[in-house]
Amino acid sequence: MKLANALTYSHTLLAATVERGDYVIDATVGNGHDTEFLSQLVGPKGHVLGFDVQVAAINSATTRLKDDGITNTELILAGHENVTQYLPANQTVGGAIFNLGYLPGADKDVITQGETTLAAINGMLPHLKKNGLIVLVVYYGHPGGQDEVNQLLNFAQALPQKAYHVLQYQFINQVNQPPYIIAIQKR
Ligand SMILES: C[S@@+](CC[C@H](N)C(=O)[O-])C[C@H]1O[C@@H](n2cnc3c(N)ncnc32)[C@H](O)[C@@H]1O
Repeated sequence: MKLANALTYSHTLLAATVERGDYVIDATVGNGHDTEFLSQLVGPKGHVLGFDVQVAAINSATTRLKDDGITNTELILAGHENVTQYLPANQTVGGAIFNLGYLPGADKDVITQGETTLAAINGMLPHLKKNGLIVLVVYYGHPGGQDEVNQLLNFAQALPQKAYHVLQYQFINQVNQPPYIIAIQKR
């Protein structure tokens, strides 16, 4: 078996924890690849709430989902830091994914930021169900990326062990700063 890259492993982790019928979140919709993956995981009775700040991303993802006949998704043109405004108060969340950094092929100045990523995570944590998982695919090679990673690592390492399992999955001998994973699971 070849060890999976971060993107593949993010899906492996979600596939192992998210259940059919779950309410899940794609915090960085982009072109909608993860939205579509989550949609298939939760099935027709589940729901995917997706966020992106770029009109082009929401449009591109909407087209992808429509072309594939997907109807269990709700895409929001807003930052994920506003998640609590869109999450019903008593809604439990089975899982979430953040694909950090910038959208390939789009404006490289529109990047995720530590403060807003943390605000989103803090908004989601109280809603996570037991064994529910937040997966962060962390890119840090671009300007601003390392600042975001530092904030995320400081936050994630300080989460109480009694309440959360926190995982880092990273190839440590590769060149060009490949993405890695931080995953937070509610115990
Ligand atoms: C690496 S891309 C996501 C790729 C996506 N998962 C896909 O399948 O194509 C990161 C995305 O995060 C978005 N983004 C940046 N800041 C954001 C924020 N505060 N809230 C939501 N999305 C944000 C960007 O517009 C960009 O589309």
